[in-house]
Amino acid sequence: MNIIRQRMTVVSNDCLQPGIFSMWLKNRAITELAKPGQFIDFYLKDPSRLLPRPISICEIDRENDRVRIVFRVAGAGTDEIAHLDPGDTIEAVGPLGNGYKPQNDGAVLLVGGGIGIPPLLELAKQLKCKKTVVLGYRDENTFLADEFRQYADVLIATEDGSVGTKGFVTDCIEQNDVEANYVYSCGPMPMLKNVAKMAQEAGIPAYVSLEERMACGIGACLGCIVKTKEKDSHTNVKNARICTEGPVFLADTLDW
Ligand SMILES: Cc1cc2nc3c(=O)[nH]c(=O)nc-3n(C[C@H](O)[C@H](O)[C@H](O)COP(=O)(O)OP(=O)(O)OC[C@H]3O[C@@H](n4cnc5c(N)ncnc54)[C@H](O)[C@@H]3O)c2cc1C
Ligand code: FES
Repeated sequence: MNIIRQRMTVVSNDCLQPGIFSMWLKNRAITELAKPGQFIDFYLKDPSRLLPRPISICEIDRENDRVRIVFRVAGAGTDEIAHLDPGDTIEAVGPLGNGYKPQNDGAVLLVGGGIGIPPLLELAKQLKCKKTVVLGYRDENTFLADEFRQYADVLIATEDGSVGTKGFVTDCIEQNDVEANYVYSCGPMPMLKNVAKMAQEAGIPAYVSLEERMACGIGACLGCIVKTKEKDSHTNVKNARICTEGPVFLADTLDW
């Protein structure tokens, strides 16, 4: 695994919506290695917060040695990152995790929910096949939807019905009769499970990215394990570390 710990320089920091920020960060080595679906661990200045905060790579701009992250302020760590200005630097380790393997044959369905939407943008950009993107939001604050429209057909579901289908991403997929040969998804765990079930019923593979809480981020602490269907001959279970064997898994391999 290539892991690089170094400083990234903030190029821009824009508030997309209250509490949601889009930040470009410059660092050649991290950008050169970055793949869609991977994440970067950010270290905070506040010494009481030792653990890094993982944020997914939203876009990669190799020409300018920079990557983009889009994040929601969830607590003090992401709040500190949201207050960085252009020219500031932040210590980071990355790129981490396995990332998505883009399949370019047939039709692909990308399904994102809430703050699981950003990592699908670079994937949508890189996939060179027929793409449908289904994005799920709570309300009319549909961040990044217009950017996805540059690369794919976009369908929207909102919980309050203010935009697109009223309900969840799975309601939207059903109502629009979306057909695909592969599914890639990122979002809250209940959404991923429902998307995986739908894909299984349709007999197509679903790749899900699990953005669960993490600690070390580099495979050392076992703080992020998920059970898989593989069996270890000694313990009769086989766990995978989300930070290193994931965050992207073929849903059928998980025992969740
Ligand atoms: C692989 C990975 C990729 C991620 N990518 C993104 C991203 O692209 N954009 C983004 O906004 N967030 C992303 N997250 C979530 C992000 O890491 C957390 O929101 C952040 O670490 C919270 O830190 P904090 O100090 O601000 O809040 P804390 O004070 O640590 O937590 C505040 C609240 O958020 C909850 N929380 C913390 N981490 C998570 C988590 N992983 N999932 C759900 N709830 C959590 C806590 O339970 C608590 O209620 C990702 C997480 C992982 C594991
Ligand atoms: S977070 Fe430590 S092993 Fe994954």
